[in-house]
Amino acid sequence: MSRTLECSATCAFGLEGVVARELEAIGVQGIRSENGSVTFQASAEELCQANLWLRTADRVWVVAGRFPAHSFEDLFSGVRGLPWPDLLPRQAAFPVEGMSHNSQLSSVPACQAVVKKAIVESLKARYPVERFPEDGPMFKVRVALVKDQATISLDSSGPGLHRRGYRKLTAEAPLRETLAAGLVLLSYYQPDRALYDPFCGSGTILIEAGWIALDRAPGLTRNFASEGWPWIGRSRWERARRQAESRHLRNRRLALLGSDADPRVLSLARYHVHAAGLGKVGVSLLRREVRDFAPDQEYAVMITNPPYGERQQDRPAARALAAELGRVTERLKTWSLYCLTSDSEFERAFGRKAIRKRKLYNGMLQCNYYQYPGPRPPQGFAAIPSVLPDEV
Ligand SMILES: C[S@@+](CC[C@H](N)C(=O)[O-])C[C@H]1O[C@@H](n2cnc3c(N)ncnc32)[C@H](O)[C@@H]1O
Repeated sequence: MSRTLECSATCAFGLEGVVARELEAIGVQGIRSENGSVTFQASAEELCQANLWLRTADRVWVVAGRFPAHSFEDLFSGVRGLPWPDLLPRQAAFPVEGMSHNSQLSSVPACQAVVKKAIVESLKARYPVERFPEDGPMFKVRVALVKDQATISLDSSGPGLHRRGYRKLTAEAPLRETLAAGLVLLSYYQPDRALYDPFCGSGTILIEAGWIALDRAPGLTRNFASEGWPWIGRSRWERARRQAESRHLRNRRLALLGSDADPRVLSLARYHVHAAGLGKVGVSLLRREVRDFAPDQEYAVMITNPPYGERQQDRPAARALAAELGRVTERLKTWSLYCLTSDSEFERAFGRKAIRKRKLYNGMLQCNYYQYPGPRPPQGFAAIPSVLPDEV
């Protein structure tokens, strides 16, 4: 299929602009940001690339159709009229999920059932069978009703795009990979600068920064639902993967430095760094209290996600940590500092007003990304690479 596909990339609220920038870099057309999603037009090749390369989106959908739906009859006939026999092979599995917002059709299970029935009817016109086995490629269908407008989409990603494949074990409050990548892309981090995370936990920010610096596609070693779609085709996917593989700068040396007070999360971070293939590029992980943070780099970037103190009783301790972070970073005049937290009193505790603030959602939690950008490094500046464990 070489026609243009109408697509949409869903993402966390606040990251739409970053997703749009990533899509621009891929070269797709008609990019439009909405709340929690970015719509665009793409060729089948670009759909593969969007899945392979988008670091900050949750999923990429192919829009099968949009139409007004005030009643179940409208929904049924709208879905029935879409070209399902061209989209779904006879063996396709097509579970239906749904959401409804500000619409007369408010029962999501009922809408899902109507959509399923309409697709079956449409397929029966092409395939003369009583029951569809649904044991073939996966085409998850989504019906989204917003202000009585139905959008019917197919999930081209499968498991969420945050599933990069390196996180096998979970720490207590790990940052989602997509949000961590967003924090890096919103910062001044560049591969020739050092990156510090003094509350690194399981290492997500460092790993996402490492992959960005090495131009490593986040989806390089995982699978996607649309690999099994006949009208996308395996060979397109293989080509997109080969191209991504050829961009990967495996031998670039970086300075990515993480520390944390908890030795258990540090061993997780070590495991994840190796699983992400970053064991030999320059990631250094140290057990260290934030009060002992004593870096030796100039023009470094700090991106961090300290404990938020979401529970009332934990707030004083979280504010004391923010104050400590403010104290240990005060003398770092050439640095750029970035901090994600849900604590609205962060700036007061930290001791400095942010130059920029951006509202971002960490799951359901509304946070602010406090930004203290510093000066640009001089021409030709290069950070001191981290010492690798086997060089000590
Ligand atoms: C919200 S978590 C960071 C999660 C991390 N971004 C990830 O993706 O896994 C906050 C981290 O701060 C660490 N921490 C708490 N108190 C600390 C202290 N006094 N000094 C250094 N780290 C501390 C915790 O061990 C925890 O790993």
